[in-house]
Amino acid sequence: MTTVNDRPETAWRNPLRDKRDKRMPRIPGPCGVVIFGVTGDLARKKLMPAIYDLANRGLLPASFALVGFARREWADQDFANVVFEAVKEHARTPFRQEVWDRLAEGFRFVQGTFDDEAAFERLSETLDKLDAERGTGGNHAFYLSIPPNAFPQVCEQLCKSGLARPRDDRWSRVVIEKPFGHDLKSARELNAVVNSVFPEESVFRIDHYLGKETVQNILALRFANALYEPIWNNNYIDHVQITMAEDIGLGGRAGYYDGIGAARDVIQNHLLQLLALTALEEPVSFSPHELQAEKIKVLSAVKLAEPLDETTARGQYAAGWQGGEKVVGLLDEQGFAKDSTTETYAAITLEIDTRRWAGVPFYLRTGKRLGRRVTEIALVFKRAPHLPFDATMTEELGQNALVIRVQPDEGITLRFGSKVPGSAMEVRDVNMDFSYGSAFAEDSPEAYERLILDVLLGEPSLFPVNAEVELSWEILDPVLDYWATHGKPEAYESGTWGPASADEMLHRTGREWRRP
Ligand SMILES: NC(=O)c1ccc[n+]([C@@H]2O[C@H](COP(=O)([O-])OP(=O)(O)OC[C@H]3O[C@@H](n4cnc5c(N)ncnc54)[C@H](OP(=O)(O)O)[C@@H]3O)[C@@H](O)[C@H]2O)c1
Repeated sequence: MTTVNDRPETAWRNPLRDKRDKRMPRIPGPCGVVIFGVTGDLARKKLMPAIYDLANRGLLPASFALVGFARREWADQDFANVVFEAVKEHARTPFRQEVWDRLAEGFRFVQGTFDDEAAFERLSETLDKLDAERGTGGNHAFYLSIPPNAFPQVCEQLCKSGLARPRDDRWSRVVIEKPFGHDLKSARELNAVVNSVFPEESVFRIDHYLGKETVQNILALRFANALYEPIWNNNYIDHVQITMAEDIGLGGRAGYYDGIGAARDVIQNHLLQLLALTALEEPVSFSPHELQAEKIKVLSAVKLAEPLDETTARGQYAAGWQGGEKVVGLLDEQGFAKDSTTETYAAITLEIDTRRWAGVPFYLRTGKRLGRRVTEIALVFKRAPHLPFDATMTEELGQNALVIRVQPDEGITLRFGSKVPGSAMEVRDVNMDFSYGSAFAEDSPEAYERLILDVLLGEPSLFPVNAEVELSWEILDPVLDYWATHGKPEAYESGTWGPASADEMLHRTGREWRRP
């Protein structure tokens, strides 16, 4: 089957092809996906369901295969049963037997551990066989859904077995999940290992936030409209708040989270990526290279506001009430050290040294066991320079705000002052809402659907390159070093909006956190 992606970019360009309706879905050429860590949480809840959903939407090539690699003694059929359960439980689209049957014909399982060279030989033979039997064309994506300390070993095994270096015009890509290191030094070491095996254009680092429609819509909102860009600067914007709040706790995640904390887990990747998209200059085009160049430029201009004892805050959740249930504090969660100093809440203040943003603080915060699950970017505008009303009539008028709601209830809210009906000229805040759910008939695809599809298409726009990862650590490292030598996180009650020090951080500048 010929697909749009079969031909190399340098090939003669058919003018009809260039006039292709860009709304038509792009389908990757023949290929296979190998998932390392198929027994893990991420594979079960996100990756296997996303692959089924792509198949169900007709977005996978007919010649497709999925290979699981894990240490269990499974036959191909056992693996197929595991994928089936994952799909039944977590897929977004309805189950269709004929789609499943066709997809499952391409399932294979390879048993082994990461230090076992023979297992990688078996993997190589399995892929060769699939190329011959299913026409997967020697094109493979290796998805490392495994503990980060195993990344180097698996990359080296892929190198030794020859799987990382495809022949001729075939491709071999590696997909890695955050965390990309735990500080600048380890990130550089990881990048060096990965890049010694895979060239940078074959490395796809997943920050699943970038796969979300609402996040991609930041660029549409800013650059497809005349309305916002003229006010998207320090003449009109007072400050920006970027929030990722979760109501869940960390029960069962001690192995991953203890010693890592909220800043490394969320600020270094998701929140700094949201900041980059909010603050970047207009790219020359949306080609991956141009977009990345603008993200790198703006991240290079970001600096921490100081002094850090006033411009940062961290906390750790204590017992409290959440959704009508009594919940324990972090120190009583299973697996956490009784004297753990891991922060479950982190807030930092950033400045951006550019003409557009000079003087506009960007406040980033994230936490577990907060009042509500919500991710949003709020641009809070300066007050009108003059209010020709009696002061008592504007007591309930706040600052105008444009809020990009990333999740849940994806959409955009504009908050502004409006006259309260009645004989007096009383002005109060109101909200104007755009909601994805009601504006578009089609459900947004899951982030992992979009990202896996882009890996198979070789489309790198939504994946941070190593320069972005390293710049993000450069921004965050001084905070982590400061916290490591200055006390411990402040306790906050579960179900509230974090520690008092985070409120003080904003009050010092006469501002307040939003309570979404
Ligand atoms: N879960 C999420 O929502 C999420 C979100 C963002 C990023 N991530 C990242 O995604 C990756 C996977 O996360 P996860 O939550 O799925 O982890 P997980 O539940 O701990 O699964 C890890 C997987 O790796 C396998 N594994 C570990 N050591 C191995 C070895 N020596 N040889 C062979 N297999 C080995 C495990 O197999 P066994 O079953 O045999 O132990 C398991 O399948 C991690 O890098 C994580 O940081 C996860």
